[in-house]
Amino acid sequence: MAENFDVKLVEEMKYYTPNPEYKRNSWLGDYQKAYDEFLADPDAFWSNVAHQLDWIKPWDAVKEWKYPYATWFTNAKLNITANCLDRHVNNNRRNKVALIWRGEGGAERIYSYQKLLSHVMRFANALKKIGVKKGDRVCIYMPLVPEQVIAMLACARIGATHSVVFGGFGAAALNLRIQDAEAKVVITADIAIRRGKAIQLKAIVDEAIMDAPSVEHVIVLRRKEPLVDIHPTRELDFYAVMEDVPEDCPPEVMDAEDPLFILYTSGSTGKPKGVVHTCGGYMVGTYYTSKYVFDIKDNDIFWCTADPGWITGHSYIIYGPLAVGATVFISELTPDFPDAGSWWSLIQEQKITVFYTAPTAIRMFMKMGEVWPNKYNLKSLRIIGSVGEPLNPEAFEWYYHTIGKDRCPIVDTWWQTETGMQMITTMIGEKMRPGFAGKPIPGVTVDVVDKSGKPVQPNTMGLLVIKSPWPAMLRTLYKDDERYRKYWYTIENCYTAGDLAVKGKDGYIMILGRSDDIIIVAGHNIGTAEVESALVSHKAVAEAAVIGKPDPLKGNSIKAFVILRVGHNPSENMTQDLLHHVRTTIGPIAMPQEIEYVDKLPKTRSGKIMRRVLKAKEMGMDPGDVSTLEE
Ligand code: PRX
Repeated sequence: MAENFDVKLVEEMKYYTPNPEYKRNSWLGDYQKAYDEFLADPDAFWSNVAHQLDWIKPWDAVKEWKYPYATWFTNAKLNITANCLDRHVNNNRRNKVALIWRGEGGAERIYSYQKLLSHVMRFANALKKIGVKKGDRVCIYMPLVPEQVIAMLACARIGATHSVVFGGFGAAALNLRIQDAEAKVVITADIAIRRGKAIQLKAIVDEAIMDAPSVEHVIVLRRKEPLVDIHPTRELDFYAVMEDVPEDCPPEVMDAEDPLFILYTSGSTGKPKGVVHTCGGYMVGTYYTSKYVFDIKDNDIFWCTADPGWITGHSYIIYGPLAVGATVFISELTPDFPDAGSWWSLIQEQKITVFYTAPTAIRMFMKMGEVWPNKYNLKSLRIIGSVGEPLNPEAFEWYYHTIGKDRCPIVDTWWQTETGMQMITTMIGEKMRPGFAGKPIPGVTVDVVDKSGKPVQPNTMGLLVIKSPWPAMLRTLYKDDERYRKYWYTIENCYTAGDLAVKGKDGYIMILGRSDDIIIVAGHNIGTAEVESALVSHKAVAEAAVIGKPDPLKGNSIKAFVILRVGHNPSENMTQDLLHHVRTTIGPIAMPQEIEYVDKLPKTRSGKIMRRVLKAKEMGMDPGDVSTLEE
């Protein structure tokens, strides 16, 4: 948030220079040279990238831009899974490891590219068998297991649009997403395993589909013994449904602009936004950034600690790294279980070379102390990355020294669900500046501007904008194109990201936080309105207002101000009840850290809650212009 803006920090020019070998050996080479090449001919730049991939039919035009709508690789035909799987299988790499999964208690599963392709084709045929067709929506609500990856790729194989919902969301949030997408099938598991405990995912699905008439089938991955009962016709076992289907499933021919997936993200109204990504541009954007930002080489073992349920998992566990042909490691283990060494032990065990995580995790590790990472051999690490929220200088330093051992470049990558791919970072080999994500990657144009779209002076806060279309950009918001247009019309001719930023004199960009009513808690996007509407759906609540407060660990925490209905009184029990209610409707990630009971909320004369005033008061700051305040 803007209150983190520290002029001294912005003026201090401190850099770390990586070993020149990194640049010499990188796919990109020199950043400025690559960027200039892009500027000289953007379409030729992206065409060169796209030519590294397999297409069923090439494009008539690299890009067509009819503000605010873009088509990329017009009329080209492709299937993303043919690039993520068949391309490697057919190029002598069928035995290369595609996916390594680790669960609790030493559980491990390994898939070669051939094996992953075989599973994807069987599951794709199973989906076809139960009537899923190109363009149908399939909701995936699963734990972090290989079957989640298989389910997503199987949808893409047959052209069904997947809508993955993170397994931490509650029944009401899941229901909303199933209903909005009108999903025909829901794929889930009986349980997720978290810190040694089973979380009953299917029970949440049972509740979520009670009022979801579009759902014809639920496919259940049964992990637990004895197997949970499933409904004899409506519900199907994940593996049983794959039994009597053909082995081969040719990839569906997809137009570059056909949808690949919908992914819901929080917005500033109560209703989440269904971000729509398409096949061609998204494939090119995620392939390109995986290869050049993480500099993935054939020997690398790449670990992105996100869940596939978030955009980070879509782009940098599945589509990008697999399109590159990387070996991808995934794990269901949380960073603190069985102890704070769990992730470091996995790095040692698997010899992870490229590691991509979130500032929240890094700050949690800082708190636990260096003893934990120091117990393990982290020598295999080559590149370390960060995403999801600002990597503050203290966390940067710790990550750089304690994990990277002053050796590994840090790629702090700024991007969004909407951008589909990384947009700003410090490319491998370039000098790094703590607190600053870096510069636009070649292929991307960004700036920091005022409300009229005029670039602000260096070292001054402004709005982060993207100035030209990019291949992996969202195409629309599902069933809400009007809202999509707002991204491009808030500031004429620019995509407004909703973030506040500062550009240094050196062109490096520091991201300060959101400029709207979205709170980033532990790297997760949460809309204030979503939490408020969950609170007011409780019978005791008359009104609620929610703000984000800076938090040393999670970046921000949620504080709720609640007015109770007559006949209900504040108490510890009431607080617990409200917290539980938010937990079961949206999910644990949206639970307020604090609830304060009030008699009144600051409002404008037109009745809009002024969260800004609540926040300023909470933090002992000047509320600014309060001329619209009711009284
Ligand atoms: O505020 C920015 C923050 O996360 C927002 C996007 O959230 P989401 O769509 O959930 O995607 C997260 C993963 C890509 C952005 O508007 N954000 C993301 N990366 C960074 C960041 N803030 C600062 N630094 C980053 N590297």
